[in-house]
Amino acid sequence: MIQNVFSWHNLKSDQQLTPDFKLLSDWDRRFFPWPWDEQDWLNIENSHSHFLVSWIESTGFSLWQLDNSPNAYLLKILVLPERKKCGAGSMLMQESLAKLRELGFKSAGLEVQVDNNAAISLYLKSSWQKSHVIKGFYSDGSDGLSMSITL
Ligand SMILES: CC(C)(COP(=O)(O)OP(=O)(O)OC[C@H]1O[C@@H](n2cnc3c(N)ncnc32)[C@H](O)[C@@H]1OP(=O)(O)O)[C@@H](O)C(=O)NCCC(=O)NCCS
Repeated sequence: MIQNVFSWHNLKSDQQLTPDFKLLSDWDRRFFPWPWDEQDWLNIENSHSHFLVSWIESTGFSLWQLDNSPNAYLLKILVLPERKKCGAGSMLMQESLAKLRELGFKSAGLEVQVDNNAAISLYLKSSWQKSHVIKGFYSDGSDGLSMSITL
């Protein structure tokens, strides 16, 4: 039973469906630079926190933390390798931001590894602003770039 999860599916139909967390966690484990372990995903499923999950079938997803309203936090955005560079990341981002605005959020934040050029380009193209660098933000000691957007 998934509680308190804001979710919506398929950017065209805008239906509220239950995300397939098993599938999303599998994509995360295989393709995300900093994958969560199984327990992290179980915590999300059983959490009383609020999340926005957007996804495109067989393509990718984004996951947002909504507990600090009116500021949302991007936890993950991922497009499968074979679907990259076709606009899916931009679509997930734009539709997520639109949904956040609809939900009353005024701003959003994220951290990204400073050398993740693909992600940083996507964020800049989607009107995110660079904020500051956090030294040693990641577990391997690499730096994180903080970014924010006004919605
Ligand atoms: C970041 C990511 C989600 C982008 O998804 P995508 O579907 O390929 O992105 P899009 O096709 O919508 O591209 C949007 C913009 O992002 C930028 N971009 C995407 N891939 C890029 C790459 N390999 N190098 C440089 N810029 C890139 C470009 O500015 C692009 O705009 P353009 O097509 O007009 O040039 C995808 O590369 C990914 O899943 N990466 C692994 C997971 C990850 O690192 N997530 C972010 C962690 S914080």
